[in-house]
Amino acid sequence: MKTIIALHTGTGNSLYIAKRIPDAEIHRMGDFLSGRYELPEDTERLGIVFPVYCWGLPYPVRRFIRECLGRRDNSKLGYVFGLATCGAFPLYTLHDLSAELSDAGIALAYGASFRLPDAYLPLQKKAVTPEAAEKMAKDIEPKLEKAIQDISNEEISIPRRGPGWRIVRRISQSAMVPRNNMGIIVNECSGCGTCAAVCPMGNISIVNGRAAMGPECISCFACYHRCPENAIEYKGATGQYRGLVDTKELKSI
Ligand SMILES: Cc1cc2nc3c(=O)[nH]c(=O)nc-3n(C[C@H](O)[C@H](O)[C@H](O)COP(=O)(O)O)c2cc1C
Ligand code: SF4
Ligand code: SF4
Repeated sequence: MKTIIALHTGTGNSLYIAKRIPDAEIHRMGDFLSGRYELPEDTERLGIVFPVYCWGLPYPVRRFIRECLGRRDNSKLGYVFGLATCGAFPLYTLHDLSAELSDAGIALAYGASFRLPDAYLPLQKKAVTPEAAEKMAKDIEPKLEKAIQDISNEEISIPRRGPGWRIVRRISQSAMVPRNNMGIIVNECSGCGTCAAVCPMGNISIVNGRAAMGPECISCFACYHRCPENAIEYKGATGQYRGLVDTKELKSI
């Protein structure tokens, strides 16, 4: 049976996971939020695939649940799962997802998380090499295979809640909002448009042949990591993690 996947990704790790779900049709959160794509009325299986941001949901995921799922008739949705990617650990992110879905009248049936290269520059100590990324992808393989199997069998499983999850949720919610000027600078640039195509917020436009940043940045660092000319700078550093999926693929999804 077909599964619709609502995807948020910055650097592509979550796309790497989403692509592994059999018979899945992947749509970006931006397409749902802009109305370019609407969840078909008869959708029975929905997957939400996204990175952990500040131990909670990225802003586009929260908006998708509130504005798209919260306003439709979800009675036909039989099986809803969430798969999160993280750089260290998810803490209560899957409970955040469960609580957000519950407010929209939807029960989360299954949740799992996967540790993959961390693209968040403010906390990153050294560059992620392709070898290190490949090793991390290999390490998560048994857990990913199990999740794929569980989802095919429509297993029910979400991790147990811990103390203080509501406080963590509140902090994450207020911290992870779009902002202007996150300290990302565009240096000499060819205007190729890659950054604009990978930005999940549609926050970059090409003006007079060069990239111009808008006011709605969620610091996913996709533009920084994927610029083919390393023209995007953050605190004196330029791009290095090209990710687990091709830039071409990330641009086209
Ligand atoms: C703004 C931001 C906040 C993040 N916060 C966390 C976090 O709280 N915990 C964690 O383990 N990883 C965190 N990460 C790392 C991402 O979850 C991780 O790199 C993820 O795999 C990126 O997925 P993507 O390539 O699909 O964007 C954060 C990354 C970003 C960009
Ligand atoms: S990806 Fe790099 S070179 Fe291409 S438009 Fe963006 S900043 Fe300029
Ligand atoms: S402009 Fe901000 S939101 Fe867009 S890709 Fe760059 S870091 Fe991500």
